[in-house]
Amino acid sequence: MAEFKLKLRRYNPESGDAPYWQEHTVELEPHRSVLEGILQAKARDDGSIGVRCSCKAAICGSCGVRINGKPGLACHTHLDEALHTAKDGETIVVEPMGNMPVIKDLIVDMDAVHWKKIQRVTPWLINEEPIPEREYVVPRESMVDITQTMACIQCGACVSDCLSMEVDPLFVGPAALAKSYRFVGDPRDAAQEIRLKDLAEDPHGIYDCTHCFKCIEACPKGVAPMSQIMRLRRISGNDYHIVDRNNGDRHERAFVSLIRDHGLLWEAELLPRSYGGDSWFGKFHPSAGAELVSSLPAITKALLRGKVTPMGALKPHNIPAEDLKQVQRIYETVEGREERVEFNLYISGKDEDLAEAPATEEASA
Ligand code: SF4
Ligand code: SF4
Ligand code: FES
Repeated sequence: MAEFKLKLRRYNPESGDAPYWQEHTVELEPHRSVLEGILQAKARDDGSIGVRCSCKAAICGSCGVRINGKPGLACHTHLDEALHTAKDGETIVVEPMGNMPVIKDLIVDMDAVHWKKIQRVTPWLINEEPIPEREYVVPRESMVDITQTMACIQCGACVSDCLSMEVDPLFVGPAALAKSYRFVGDPRDAAQEIRLKDLAEDPHGIYDCTHCFKCIEACPKGVAPMSQIMRLRRISGNDYHIVDRNNGDRHERAFVSLIRDHGLLWEAELLPRSYGGDSWFGKFHPSAGAELVSSLPAITKALLRGKVTPMGALKPHNIPAEDLKQVQRIYETVEGREERVEFNLYISGKDEDLAEAPATEEASA
């Protein structure tokens, strides 16, 4: 048994009072969870502490909180682990999740944000017609591919930490987009193109993610929402050739072509290429001009703060010729493949059938 100090953020919006911090000392074995610590504080010190939980086994997704500033499941975080990440080395700080309104103390309104966004992506299978008389037979690789998204327990930890959602609360968000991939990647679904077009054309859709990796770090189930969003983009742009009105697809291609040509990003060329493609005339694309005008305040700020210099922005950044050749060799290898190779690193281990194969051969020999 050991003593742990918990600092809980208390807030009841209905009371009209400001949020405040409350400290509790709990006595538990170090391998016990932060949730057990909160429940002990609630049972012993203050029954009014608001916390949501159910399974206590990292399955139901209801105990999402922030522990020492990082989102996670309270029932899946040991007290001793939490102590290691405590900023002062002795106090475990527990707050409600971010990007969602607080209902009370550690309970956030999942309906107002998380579930609304999940509903946004039509979270059910739309059948291919005609429906077969017997069961659908699908390639096992497809099922392996979507298993990663099926592991989601809807805890909202990724939503809590999403930087894009902080800036744009209308962003569809990591959990809902991962859910969308669950159906886009399913060969039985008949609406893949419609789903992708919808999410590509939505200014708050797949191209609103800034690749910050926060959702990957936050997810307690290894769903890697950002990777699912990148898959949605690849299928949308490469397989269905959807060129969205937000210019997301072209913008992404501009990054790729600039790195291929120079080995480094050339910011001044990014905008014209995003609108006019690789062509030199792209610079004169009317939308490029409009975007340039709307970006002038940001460009001026960057110049004034010395983040860019006029010559530094206008000239391409280059790397040594030999290094550039190596970068271009990567492109040749990847683009020279007959089909796109996706690495799903979620499922690892041996394939049982293959592992058993030699034994079967021996038996029949
Ligand atoms: S990678 Fe994209 S979806 Fe994930 S947290 Fe960052 S901005 Fe949000
Ligand atoms: S993707 Fe991960 S973090 Fe996000 S809701 Fe699902 S389980 Fe939670
Ligand atoms: S209580 Fe169910 S996931 Fe924590």
